[in-house]
Amino acid sequence: MPAGFGSRLAADSSPNTGRVSENMTDNLSHPNSPEARDSASLIHPLTNLKTHLEKGGLVIEEGDGVWVTDIHGKKYIEGMSGLWCLSLGYGQERLVEAAAKQMRRLPYYHLTNHKSHQPAIDLAEKLLEIAPVPMSKVWFANSGSEGNDSAARIVWYYWHAKGQPEKRKIIAHQRAYHGNTIASASMSGMYYNHASFGLPLDGFLHVTPPHHYRYANPGEDEEAFASRLADELDALIIAEGPETVGAFFAEPIMGSGGVIVPPPTYFKKIQAVLDKHDILLIADEVITAFGRTGNMFGTTTMDLTPDMLVCAKGLSSAYLPISALMVNARVFEVISEESDRVGVFGLSFTYSGHPVSAAVAREALRIYEDENIVEHVRAMEPHFLGGLKKLLDHPLVGEVRGKGLLAGVELVHDKSTGEAFDPAYQVGPYCADRAEAHGVILRAIGDTISFCPPLVIDKQEIEELILRFRHALDDTLAMVQEQGWLSAR
Ligand SMILES: Cc1ncc(COP(=O)(O)O)c(C=O)c1O
Repeated sequence: MPAGFGSRLAADSSPNTGRVSENMTDNLSHPNSPEARDSASLIHPLTNLKTHLEKGGLVIEEGDGVWVTDIHGKKYIEGMSGLWCLSLGYGQERLVEAAAKQMRRLPYYHLTNHKSHQPAIDLAEKLLEIAPVPMSKVWFANSGSEGNDSAARIVWYYWHAKGQPEKRKIIAHQRAYHGNTIASASMSGMYYNHASFGLPLDGFLHVTPPHHYRYANPGEDEEAFASRLADELDALIIAEGPETVGAFFAEPIMGSGGVIVPPPTYFKKIQAVLDKHDILLIADEVITAFGRTGNMFGTTTMDLTPDMLVCAKGLSSAYLPISALMVNARVFEVISEESDRVGVFGLSFTYSGHPVSAAVAREALRIYEDENIVEHVRAMEPHFLGGLKKLLDHPLVGEVRGKGLLAGVELVHDKSTGEAFDPAYQVGPYCADRAEAHGVILRAIGDTISFCPPLVIDKQEIEELILRFRHALDDTLAMVQEQGWLSAR
């Protein structure tokens, strides 16, 4: 079905259209303002670079709990934990102390050539202890992208070692986001990661995302939808040749694709297909790990049995860059034998397991336990998701979906049919801009507004967040009515 107006399928729109408030433009007229200096010096990720030159950006100065303050003193609820990462909020002194202590003692050492250090050992042991399925060893990198890139490399190494070097195709979901290195951008299913970059590389394939509201056939329930997608995967693998397909990468709940929660039996059905064709499953838990979905791992919430699991972001609560890739015994045994044959395991990053990042991540894992973060998320979930679901009474809100403290609210042209707005109208980005004007930072993914607040958020702050968002929705409704863009009802 073609994307866009007149279809139920919401097209992607640019994650940041460059729509910014007039204040920002005003601030650019002062050449020494941080906004003007920013526009004159920085290239911004996921930003319209041209518009940014003219309009500038929002410069944040400090954070406290779930709040951030910009350089003009305006306060915002950070409704996205930055980029889905600042799980423990601002002001976690224990993390600051852990970093300072480790920096004084051993600010750097590496893990190559049989060297090691205590922070990496402590963190690896703890991750293996809390892993949602039995895992054997941990590989560290600096970002989610590098974690997924490493996992792709290990997939290729693994099948090479097993005497099947042609078994290297990787399947992921359309609209998935797995990162921005060349391999992880290739496995991502976002148009903006591929367009004009000549990506994806050959051998990266994409299947329909498990989003019932958008992709189900008329009258198809969740169970039948999940079965159809599993059949689609099976057919793709057979068409490609199972001997050429090495792995399937999946987020337990898709984040940047629009917060997509698969049907409950989806992964069981997918797993059966992968097992049938002897294909590895990699869980990308870069967003979903460490309490976000109401369990320590999204793998538990969505019932997967991955061979490898990638986590990052909440691992250090974003206080320092670090990611971890856990591999099970099946994978480790093969790659360890292969490294013996080759001479060394040829994957290496200078900062793999950086001691300061590792010490901070280990302390973050202590805080998750000491503060009972998973219990807190479960206690907050009804207020958060329940509060957002009340917005279904709003003329613009078609679907509210989520788990734990992760949610998406999809704005639609016609609630009765779920018909999407014309993406050119940029309704979602307008709504996110209005939310920012009302003092809450959210993100528009097409016309889905995503929510991923710090896990330490309390009930009053959730109520405040939702109230401010409702004001943004009302402003958006007024705008679409004025433009005559709302379906007659
Ligand atoms: C599910 C998922 N995987 C991987 C990544 C890439 O992580 P990073 O930006 O740390 O490279 C992201 C980033 O948002 C993500 O959401």
